Amino acid sequence: MTDSTLAYEQQLDAQYVMQTFKRKPVEFVRGEGMRLYDDAGREYLDFIAGIGVASAGHAHPLVTAALQAQAAKLLNVSNYYYVEGRGELARTLNDLLNSESDSTTVWRTFFTNSGAESVEGAIKLARRYGKKHLGGAVGIVAAQRSFHGRTLAALAATGQPSKQEAFEPLPAGFTHVPLNDLAALQTALSAGEICAVLLEPLQGEGGVWPCATEYLQAVRHLTTERGILLILDEVQTGFYRTGKPFAFQHFGIQPDIITLAKGIANGFPMGALVARDAVAAAFEPGDHGSTFAGGALAVAAANATQQALAELDAAAHVSKVGTYLQQQLAELPLVVEVRGCGLMVGAALSQPVAAQAVDAGLEQGLVLNNTDPATLRFLPPLVCTTTEIDLMIAKLTKILEKLS
Ligand SMILES: Cc1ncc(COP(=O)(O)O)c(C=O)c1O
Repeated sequence: MTDSTLAYEQQLDAQYVMQTFKRKPVEFVRGEGMRLYDDAGREYLDFIAGIGVASAGHAHPLVTAALQAQAAKLLNVSNYYYVEGRGELARTLNDLLNSESDSTTVWRTFFTNSGAESVEGAIKLARRYGKKHLGGAVGIVAAQRSFHGRTLAALAATGQPSKQEAFEPLPAGFTHVPLNDLAALQTALSAGEICAVLLEPLQGEGGVWPCATEYLQAVRHLTTERGILLILDEVQTGFYRTGKPFAFQHFGIQPDIITLAKGIANGFPMGALVARDAVAAAFEPGDHGSTFAGGALAVAAANATQQALAELDAAAHVSKVGTYLQQQLAELPLVVEVRGCGLMVGAALSQPVAAQAVDAGLEQGLVLNNTDPATLRFLPPLVCTTTEIDLMIAKLTKILEKLS
């Protein structure tokens, strides 16, 4: 029988697993809604949700049932064939993307297995479009402090030199400008042959920094004027995380390409690259592919997750509870600024004690996260209630009082 204790897992991990993460000393073995349970049966309130993934809550019965039923039937047959439920899922994405406007845009999806893969696909699609329609332009302008993933092109798009330097040379053709600085963007667009601007509407890994409304609207205007593409990376903000199906819907604009993952299938690995019909047409058969992407199990999990989120009335729920979370965080000791939208919230601290707060939280049954030494980030499952926020705030108040 396998020994599932933390100590045994730590020993094997230290010996056989690549040490790319500094893991916290806990092994979660079960979850339910907002709660996680470790190997000793201790309960935790989860305010990070597998980095914004368990959108409908851990072990949601609809998702569990869909996965069990599909697992007993068929796992994967590749993209050579049709898959039950895949077209329906693509139609759901199309409908959600048009849901906050009277848009009749037809959105086409390429399913992927992760956020980085969605971004890689978006870069390829933008370049293919640039070669066909923009006189061969392949340059991409992205934002400083952005995060787009760990594969090479996604890393090249990421605006964080500290994550890039060890892996140079990276694919060429990426420039980075400060977020919310329109003049800098205009200069970058004039400097090279650019096919696309790539932005997170609300930067996540960089520390929860939103695009200003006027900025993103102006970027849309500029890109449309020049006939170049606007790619929005909604891997973290997508699927109701910010209180609308997608964050761009707060800005009254539409992108040309959108990248998705995390909350799409409640923890089952899946992502999606979605583009307006005319942009998607730049890809021809054979241009892009993946063995596992859009497989039957992922599709079943995603369809069930989307059903669960619709039943939760996720947009209204997240808006309400998210506002409450932001208000409560603003009252905490050491908190000097609260940034974000819906249930994607960053709390900036006046002292660099965020990592200590996360560690103290874990000891007291709270799963917390920090993006840098002075920023706590909250990405709870979207089923989070005000009662659970109160429980977390009571413990965090004491933790921050001690650290201040
Ligand atoms: C905005 C954004 N894009 C891309 C990624 C990469 O996603 P993945 O880790 O699934 O490859 C992330 C992950 O945090 C993200 O936040």
